[in-house]
Amino acid sequence: MTVEVFPTEAAVAESLARRLADEIVERGTTTLGLPTGRTPLLLYEALVRISRADRVDWTRVRTFNVDEFEGLGSGDATSYRRFMDEHLFSKVSIDPANVGFLDGRAPDLGAECARYERAIADAGGLDRLVLGIGANGHIAFNEPADGLHADTHVATLELTSRAANAWWFGGELHRVPPRALTIGLATVLGARAISVIATGESKADAVRAACQRTVTTRCPASFLQLHADVTVLVDQPVADLLDGPGGVSRR
Ligand code: PGA
Repeated sequence: MTVEVFPTEAAVAESLARRLADEIVERGTTTLGLPTGRTPLLLYEALVRISRADRVDWTRVRTFNVDEFEGLGSGDATSYRRFMDEHLFSKVSIDPANVGFLDGRAPDLGAECARYERAIADAGGLDRLVLGIGANGHIAFNEPADGLHADTHVATLELTSRAANAWWFGGELHRVPPRALTIGLATVLGARAISVIATGESKADAVRAACQRTVTTRCPASFLQLHADVTVLVDQPVADLLDGPGGVSRR
């Protein structure tokens, strides 16, 4: 795992947006795994700006978002699907047919998870997966537990994860669904390259736990140690808290 330190959250976003845009231009056809949340807001802003300035062609880009709330889908104002439409998909030249998304309103959620797993496999897997990290060490909505799921599944959210999402629900915690559909750890580790964004000091403990050479289901992000191509992009507030014994190596 490589840790890259940037002075600010905006510099993290700019660097990763540039990398994604360059990969889209170089490869033409590419499949991305994408996150939602507060963290990637600046990333998508930068990616839209670069895509417009450089006329980046998104028509052969496929995307799969990593999670969606149970009970919510594309028609809902608080769905993750709506978040992505608003912040990225409506602003770049992506073909809507190439947008993969979990449907939290599907009548059979187990079948929906299986469909999604197959869709990612049929697309040839994820070329680059972008992830945030929860303050509790979750990646996508794989929450700390005694055991983790390999495949796409329905997850029960920790209160802290629901609280971290309350802003997207007008600050009303009770409106944040208690469960979500999420890709699993095998889906994550099956991506060819992974970029994790961790900004703001509240993420420092999770990053430190993720970077220890111990893999534990109590910190799902620690499973990223098992992947050969993971970069964690952190801002200075996170970096300042990573130093000391057991600190992480960085570039
Ligand atoms: P956040 O979520 O960006 O809203 O903090 C990160 C994550 O859970 O992936």
